[in-house]
Amino acid sequence: MTALHPETDVLRTEYQKSVAAYWNNNPNDARVNTVLGEVDGLYHHHYGIGAPDLSVLEGPEDTRQERLVKELHRLETAQADLLLDHLGDIGPDDRLMDGGSGRGGTSFMANQRFGCRMDGVTISEYQAGLANDQARDRGAADKVRFHFENMLDTGFESGVMRGIWTNETTMYVDLYELFAEFSRLLKPGGRYVCITGCSNDVFGARSASVSWIDARYGCNIHPRSEYFKAMAANNLVPVSVTDLTPDTIPYWELRTHSELATGVEEPFLTSYGEGSFQYLMIAADKVGR
Ligand SMILES: C[S@@+](CC[C@H](N)C(=O)[O-])C[C@H]1O[C@@H](n2cnc3c(N)ncnc32)[C@H](O)[C@@H]1O
Repeated sequence: MTALHPETDVLRTEYQKSVAAYWNNNPNDARVNTVLGEVDGLYHHHYGIGAPDLSVLEGPEDTRQERLVKELHRLETAQADLLLDHLGDIGPDDRLMDGGSGRGGTSFMANQRFGCRMDGVTISEYQAGLANDQARDRGAADKVRFHFENMLDTGFESGVMRGIWTNETTMYVDLYELFAEFSRLLKPGGRYVCITGCSNDVFGARSASVSWIDARYGCNIHPRSEYFKAMAANNLVPVSVTDLTPDTIPYWELRTHSELATGVEEPFLTSYGEGSFQYLMIAADKVGR
């Protein structure tokens, strides 16, 4: 595994150590991600979007859970596909970075789609190792690499990335620090795409359900406004903003029928339903040098 920094420089705060420990221990909450990933070897640690095929809830009972798993996985892959759709024109000579790459699902999809070089960055040494093993098994290790690094200070050269994305990772970091680093890494005109859950400023203080989700995952969900302020402060100019909330609610409803449901379904559905939490996709271009 490529290490640009010694371990002490990757995990700089007690909070970062606790986030790394959570992902290194492959928490029980992630069992659902493992089972869904076994469908086709793409491991996602994010949620799904799109219209579910509800026929999986019918038919023979002995195969129902298996069909449900495949359908949930299809919706999670559809989410990553939508994210990649927003990166713009990417060629095989371009370089992309996945900030908070998990077990690499979205990174492998990007490499398959664009044929380009991919660098995934995660503060979980376990995840980086596992994803690098997968890259080798897939024969993609020459182009797809995972690094045990902090996305707030990656150690990569400035101005080398054509695109960067974060798929459900920004709630673990300070957005001003993150976007300063992304702005440094992006070429002029490079694209950043973010999919995230955020609290809705219109509601004022965060709702009980949003606080519950924070506590459950040890994260810090940011208000919607914070994304745009931090982008503006770092030369990242939004080109499109999509509220994916209506597209993700059916996924969560379907998940309530799965044996793999973890108990987070209720607060997600409550907060999305009342409007205090939103599932947002923002694509932004780096302007200036
Ligand atoms: C919910 S998972 C999302 C994983 C992946 N993006 C996906 O869609 O499957 C959150 C990820 O963020 C990573 N992460 C959290 N804080 C980080 C940081 N400061 N630097 C790099 N990765 C971080 C975790 O290690 C984990 O891989």
